[in-house]
Amino acid sequence: MLKAVFGVVALVLASAALAERVDNFVLLDHTGDAHELHYYSDRDAVVLMVQGNGCPVVRNALPDLRAVREQFSDANVEFLMINSNLQDHRVSIAAEAEEWGIDLPILDDDSQLIGESLGLTRTAEVFVIDTDDWSVAYRGPINDRLSYERQKKEASKHYVADALNAVLAGEEPSITSEGAIGCLINFPGEKEREAHRTISYSDTIAPMLEDNCVACHQEGGIGPWAMSSYEMVRGFAPMIREVVRTKRMPPWHADPHVGDWQNDAGLTVEERQTLIHWIEAGAPRGEGDDPLKMFVADANIWPLGEPDLIVELPSYDIPASGVVDYQFPSVKNPLDEDVWVRAMTVVPGRTEVVHHVLVGATAAGQAPNESEGVFDNYLGGYAPGTGYTKMPEGTGVYLPADSHFMFQLHYTPFGKDVSDTTKVGLYFHDEPPGNFLRHGVVLNPTIRIPPGAKRHEQAAYYQFEKDAHLHTILPHSHYRGRSSSFVLRHPDGTEEMLLNVPNYDFNWQRGYDFAEPKFVPAGSKLIHSTVYDNSVQNPANPDPEKLVTWGLQSWDEMLYGDFVFTWVDETSDQPIHSNERADAFQTIGFLDRDMDGTVQLEELSDRMRQRMAPIFQAADHNKDGLSAEEYIAFRMVMRMNRPQRNASSGGE
Ligand code: HEC
Repeated sequence: MLKAVFGVVALVLASAALAERVDNFVLLDHTGDAHELHYYSDRDAVVLMVQGNGCPVVRNALPDLRAVREQFSDANVEFLMINSNLQDHRVSIAAEAEEWGIDLPILDDDSQLIGESLGLTRTAEVFVIDTDDWSVAYRGPINDRLSYERQKKEASKHYVADALNAVLAGEEPSITSEGAIGCLINFPGEKEREAHRTISYSDTIAPMLEDNCVACHQEGGIGPWAMSSYEMVRGFAPMIREVVRTKRMPPWHADPHVGDWQNDAGLTVEERQTLIHWIEAGAPRGEGDDPLKMFVADANIWPLGEPDLIVELPSYDIPASGVVDYQFPSVKNPLDEDVWVRAMTVVPGRTEVVHHVLVGATAAGQAPNESEGVFDNYLGGYAPGTGYTKMPEGTGVYLPADSHFMFQLHYTPFGKDVSDTTKVGLYFHDEPPGNFLRHGVVLNPTIRIPPGAKRHEQAAYYQFEKDAHLHTILPHSHYRGRSSSFVLRHPDGTEEMLLNVPNYDFNWQRGYDFAEPKFVPAGSKLIHSTVYDNSVQNPANPDPEKLVTWGLQSWDEMLYGDFVFTWVDETSDQPIHSNERADAFQTIGFLDRDMDGTVQLEELSDRMRQRMAPIFQAADHNKDGLSAEEYIAFRMVMRMNRPQRNASSGGE
């Protein structure tokens, strides 16, 4: 009797020091996929096992974990693993998973912050998390089969299975924790909790916020609150902890393990650790000045200086709420000579409502033609936080006289009626810069995203017919975009991932500028893929019951991968680019589902097959599928044979 009472007391004491609830987090797994804990709110429980490379206890427990998964395969339970080891990284974790046949996502806790907050000490510990309130229903070994250097043939106590049964039955498990048995994890941060109180706000935290956050979080900025003093930061400290743990802020969404970006706006692992440790230590003020109080915003709306040409867009009245259709205004280019654009700044009239702006120009003498004209002579874009576009060294966008500026404007109401007049400032080269900066798109207008699908992938590619350099890539989808990537498939078939955006966020349309121009050998395919989440678990989803197809509005979807490039053999006095050919390569890139370079009729949807069958008949000369060259030749013939348009046939 007495013993039992002591047992209870000991248990209460032990668990007091441990996490009782698991705060939300986002971590990338060993394959580069993002996992948000709270995304699994439609599950009844989440089982999270602490993994560590080379730990015999973990390896030995794997068959038992598999058995529990099997036992609960009909139940609504999510199984995950987490690795908080200092010494393990994405590649070595992936190798361990491969070698030991682990087919669960292993979340890479690269900053150790999540492991610290769970109070981990050893690997092989298993958490049973009740998704009703994210409480820890059980933590400890999976069962009593294993102890150090010996193991029983069979377990007699099945802690995790019992806890799961209890949670599924809406009951409290009879055993809520057991001492973990596994390999010790080195948490240097944990041992220095006291030292975190001495992290200097003045010398370390404020400068970090100034460098990474204040561009948006200042008076009149697009951030909802201004980081204008220590008091503000302290007040928002728990919220900062949350948005950093869930990778919402700063809004930079590239997987840090893939690619090097000139405009990298992410926090490093060390910066995240320092910021969170400081907050968890109580956000102490310490000694010294308050740099955030002394911060003076740059009042100059033209960060690159007075532009050579300022173009004012038409004004729009934006209602307090509702959805505003995309706007496609155009403005006649007032210049009477051709110029080369070297940089551009977009200045929204009201930063609160301007979601994004794309800017382009038509060819000489061409009338504006709604949306697509934006991409003929694409100049660049604006999204909150991206101040200006500078063309890469030695390049420029050629802007002919007698053209029209084209814009695509996306407004999002914010609760007040306002009027917006956006301005664009252009900067010109004095001399032709050497090369044309070109723009292309990988797209797929045939996408169909089934209702309720959690992970629906669509892809397309663009094949480069000549050597090129890529400068910027930009994945674009709408509210259902979950993740996106760009992969370069070399002519020899080897693939290289250029960009991985594991937790895509429609709110942040931004280009990723390569630190060094990326060489693309002729014949390479730039493959763009997006995974869509059309389920109720996607909080941004406007309608999970809808079959979603291509459309400009944000409740429709897009597979749209922008890329900015130069042809290696092009010069400003000897253009070699052809929009016509680019169009054909773009079309083949979404029709050719198996990406082997030619389109077979079987690859097309029924509707497309009907439409394309006559073209195939006429164009596919060697009957081995339609290639881009055949398609180009066919279109040329069609154009030559087309009767001259006149006013009476204009209604088509
Ligand atoms: C490019 C602009 C931008 C940058 C840089 C930026 N933020 Fe934000 N931040 C926003 C916007 C816009 C919102 C509100 C909408 C959203 O959450 O996306 C926001 C929201 C937040 C919120 C949530 C406020 C709330 O109550 O919902 C916090 C906290 C925050 N930011 C902290 C930070 C921190 C810390 C940094 C730097 C490490 C940072 N932000 C960098 C634009 C930015």
